Amino acid sequence: MVRHLHAFVRDTEPTIAEWERAIGFLTATGQKCDDERQEFILLSDVLGISMLVETINNRAANSTTESTVLGPFHMVTSPRRALGDSIDLVGTGPQCVLEGRVLSAGGGPLPGAELDVWQANDQGFYDVQQPGVQPAGNGRGLFTAGRDGGYWFRTIVPTYYPIPTDGPVGTLLAATKRHPYRPAHIHFIVTAPGHRPLTTHIFVAGSPYIESDAVFAVKRSLITEFTPVDDPALAARYGLTGPFQLANFDIVLQPEN
Ligand code: BEZ
Ligand code: FE
Repeated sequence: MVRHLHAFVRDTEPTIAEWERAIGFLTATGQKCDDERQEFILLSDVLGISMLVETINNRAANSTTESTVLGPFHMVTSPRRALGDSIDLVGTGPQCVLEGRVLSAGGGPLPGAELDVWQANDQGFYDVQQPGVQPAGNGRGLFTAGRDGGYWFRTIVPTYYPIPTDGPVGTLLAATKRHPYRPAHIHFIVTAPGHRPLTTHIFVAGSPYIESDAVFAVKRSLITEFTPVDDPALAARYGLTGPFQLANFDIVLQPEN
């Protein structure tokens, strides 16, 4: 790292004022950190470092589901919910159903796999960003896959949102004329005995910013269609009334060696 840094300094020949500015930026980044805010990880995210490290360490074997970044909003324990429950405690935003199966790349379903999911609300905020506005646990759930490895839950279609810009990372994005937005997504951590845990998202196909995620976390294989359904009988089968969107996403875990 020191050799790379020296090469960078030789290459760019910063002035003393520029060096002071760099030290000031790193100092401010540290000062923005507390128990809940990790500005250095956010800096790593917008520089594409987090995604690079993630990808190097989780090279998906051909048939396994690809991983992506954890992000800063998995800071509370998700409430345990039964299959079919809604993780949306508020009732605003377009209804949707997410369903799929958890499978082993070694073959067959993984009954009893655990799925920890979390997402922002229809305004683009996580519950932990709006204490007192959203109920704790809104947009979160911990599910156990059924006997056939199947899972399903109800929620609202998430929306795109900006990463926090009230710190040095926001200043950096503005200075480099970059937008702060992430395309709409739902986070997952999926675990099953004898398998590597998977941290990933599903991305809503067609979401704004799907081609320009501020943290470079989109992988093509994670983009999922949310298909509009206007069939009252099908809605009733999922415990819904009115139109909704249906998304199907199978998750394939890698057996541990
Ligand atoms: C998120 O998706 O929650 C996220 C990821 C990286 C930086 C900021 C937010
Ligand atoms: Fe997120």
